[in-house]
Amino acid sequence: MISTKMADRINLQINREMFSAYLYMAMSARMTEMGYTGIGKWLMIQYHEEMFHAMKFAKYLQDQGASVKLDKLDTPDFPEKTVKELFQHVLKHEQWVTASIREMVELARTEKDYATENLLNWYIDEQVEEEKNATEILQAIDLIGNNAQGLFMLNVELGKRDNHAPLDFTKA
Ligand code: FEO
Repeated sequence: MISTKMADRINLQINREMFSAYLYMAMSARMTEMGYTGIGKWLMIQYHEEMFHAMKFAKYLQDQGASVKLDKLDTPDFPEKTVKELFQHVLKHEQWVTASIREMVELARTEKDYATENLLNWYIDEQVEEEKNATEILQAIDLIGNNAQGLFMLNVELGKRDNHAPLDFTKA
């Protein structure tokens, strides 16, 4: 059993993970509309990753006998129009998610909630990966500069990403 405070914080994180999915879906739509279909695909796979993150927290709450409480999602708001600006936003967003997960670890430690801390270790590792992916794409964009052919190749490369996030709630 986990505390009400921790269950509330996990429910808040479910909202943040689902907002992340919503944001990446919106970004995917914009990139696809601009002709970057590969980048659009990469972002939609990111959408599935985020939904998996939300489902994993939801399943944990249920395993602990706590209720899943879904709140409304904010509207994704991003003014960025270029590929570089968009991935800068992705990196900044992931850094915000990392800070949110770290805050949860602090709460778990305060409460001596070892089970939740153990679950959160998976998310800590996942955030290293998430920030690394965004950073590597930004590095590639910097190398490409204003070369249109390079940007086209990056679009093709990112379009090769496959979905590895389980879509089945029970596999979370
Ligand atoms: Fe669920 Fe991209 O952090």
